[in-house]
Amino acid sequence: MTSEMISKAVASIRERGEFKAKIGLVLGSGLGNFVDTLSETTRIPFSEIPGFPVSTVAGHSGEIVHGYLDGIPVLVNSGRVHFYEGYSLDQVVYPVRVLRALGVETILLTNAAGSIRKTYAPGDLMLITSLLNQTGRSVYEPDPEPEHIFEPQLLKKIARIASQASISLKAGSYAGLNGPSYETPAEIRFLRLKQADAVGMSTVHESMAAFQAGMQVIGISCLTNYAAGILDQPLNHEEVIETGLRVREDFATLLTEVIKAISV
Ligand code: HPA
Repeated sequence: MTSEMISKAVASIRERGEFKAKIGLVLGSGLGNFVDTLSETTRIPFSEIPGFPVSTVAGHSGEIVHGYLDGIPVLVNSGRVHFYEGYSLDQVVYPVRVLRALGVETILLTNAAGSIRKTYAPGDLMLITSLLNQTGRSVYEPDPEPEHIFEPQLLKKIARIASQASISLKAGSYAGLNGPSYETPAEIRFLRLKQADAVGMSTVHESMAAFQAGMQVIGISCLTNYAAGILDQPLNHEEVIETGLRVREDFATLLTEVIKAISV
């Protein structure tokens, strides 16, 4: 059923333009403007593609974009849906599976996340080196934790690219929770014990689905705030939005450099 729907989505997308690329991106909260740096863009709202879930969350408008970055074709899912919006996991990962069906071989997943480490400050970018699936569910059946979703060689390469571009890039483990509320300080203490460095409400299922579909997976978090209880003050959603806006240029530069390096 899903694969039939994916074929329908691909057919309907290809009616609208070229939509072919080896590199795919998923842009999380507040990062949608990255598509403005692409040239010759063709855009299709998610709502016009068979099977695509449409987000209810502000800042996740939702469109698939084909364009070129320095002549390199890329496909971008600008916006995503979350499990907490009431979608099934198959719906949450569907747009990633469609990217694969459109020819994507390497996928860059981005998100906003809370920092669990004092030394990782709001505004820092973090390369995801491992996942902690704390959602109690998985697109995998049965549920093994794939060991090498993020290839060690690729991780090294990206760290090198960032350093050559003088962009500070932290690295760490991303814990994915269902949300939609932010965590309690006690939950963050628990995640610290599990050696998580960042926490968010997306990306884990997309990473697994992408890995399972045979793609190379890269995950980058924009740390928008200290997670609950790390500081002596409550966290607020405005800070998450503001920090995202503040660092989006650095984020765009990093994405550009990574795309250029992996396309050669
Ligand atoms: N927790 C969960 N998700 C988030 C956070 C956080 O602190 N910040 C941005 N997304």
